[in-house]
Amino acid sequence: MNFVKPQPRIPPAAPLPPITINKRRLLRDLNAVSRIGIGDRGSVTRLVFSIKELRSRQFLIHQMRQIGLQIHIDRIGNIFGRLDGANAKPAALLVGSHLDTVVHGGKFDGTLGVIAALEAVRTLKEQKIVLPSPVEVVCFVGEESSRFGYSTLGSSLMTGEVRGKDLVHAADAQGTKLEDILASMGIYRNNLRSMRRDPSTIKAYLELHIEQGPILEAKKKPIGIVTSIAAPTRFRVVFTGQADHSGTTPMEMRRDALVAASELIVAVEKVCRRYAHVEQGRVVGTVGAIKIEPGVINAIPGRAELSVDIRSISAEAKKHVVRLVQAQIDEIARRRNIEAEILPLREEDPVPLDKRLVRLLKECCEAKNIAYEIMPSGAGHDAMQMAKITAAGMLFIPSRRGISHSPLEWSEPEDICLGAQLLLDSIIRVANEAI
Ligand code: GLV
Ligand code: MN
Ligand code: MN
Repeated sequence: MNFVKPQPRIPPAAPLPPITINKRRLLRDLNAVSRIGIGDRGSVTRLVFSIKELRSRQFLIHQMRQIGLQIHIDRIGNIFGRLDGANAKPAALLVGSHLDTVVHGGKFDGTLGVIAALEAVRTLKEQKIVLPSPVEVVCFVGEESSRFGYSTLGSSLMTGEVRGKDLVHAADAQGTKLEDILASMGIYRNNLRSMRRDPSTIKAYLELHIEQGPILEAKKKPIGIVTSIAAPTRFRVVFTGQADHSGTTPMEMRRDALVAASELIVAVEKVCRRYAHVEQGRVVGTVGAIKIEPGVINAIPGRAELSVDIRSISAEAKKHVVRLVQAQIDEIARRRNIEAEILPLREEDPVPLDKRLVRLLKECCEAKNIAYEIMPSGAGHDAMQMAKITAAGMLFIPSRRGISHSPLEWSEPEDICLGAQLLLDSIIRVANEAI
């Protein structure tokens, strides 16, 4: 006869209490940051290296101190607030975004990602949760190109992506050169590489951001998981004609730089519209800034300087459109007997994000029955620089009417809190898994 030894009965494990962010605190901090640089119609302006932008960074540092994070600030001003992990292995999960804004921008572009990362880490600390990997809340300097025409400055320096030649034409509307500001911080062409952080100290990068487009709202999905980021090609065009008297110069003798510029603006729209509906080769192009001289009512403009920004998820389609636009510049200049100069600012390829992180973010949504959309990003982000040195993943929440870079930018508090909670869930997953 076989005796079966009675097995001790193991009581089912008590379910772990959910680790949840403090929604009120998150919304309170977002509000506090949005008051720094607040202007007309609720717009927010914190141009990189302005007093307002520096104050927003101070706010973050103060919050990080209160939590007790180890703070490190690099030479350009990127801020890292570190919560130690259980492992001696130092590779940290970086989570964040940027606090600088465009001129008359909204409250959430960038700020959401930094403040949500802060709230996630504060929740971990408060609940005495020690993850296997360290987690660093990061605020990158100068993600927006609004001041110097140069985007993702802090993350590009940290990832070793800044090339001296890209800085040559980077200047603000007052003529202040980005290179001069960098020099005042001890950053020169010959030591750009010294700003690079050793990639082996980074396990992965996560960024929560507003979508800044209309897809999630249209599809009624609260979360987007980003697969790739459309990087821009940017250049300035200078048309030089002849400034002259507006009353005495016959129409056929004029060399009007502004009329040439106007033709180019229309040409950029026309060329890009041809590619606007091709799903994978969709290209968008914008002339966002123009400066003319002498800029008075009674003189023919002798000089016009325009900024051109062309983006696509397809590197090939973007290159093709850039070639077409540049051919138009030559044609307009020749026909109008005007000089044209193209000043390159930056040329980047679209960036795929990490497939394993896309899967992991999907699983985090599915675990909570959250509807999500798998999608590319038309806007640029620090994640596109981070993706060059580590596994990078991004989450989106809906933007009302898809509007951003505008005071009308808005996301619902409910979506903000859901996004931040999902960011915390994914931090816990990434920190626990071998990525
Ligand atoms: C960043 O906001 C961009 O210009 O895409
Ligand atoms: Mn932006
Ligand atoms: Mn942004």
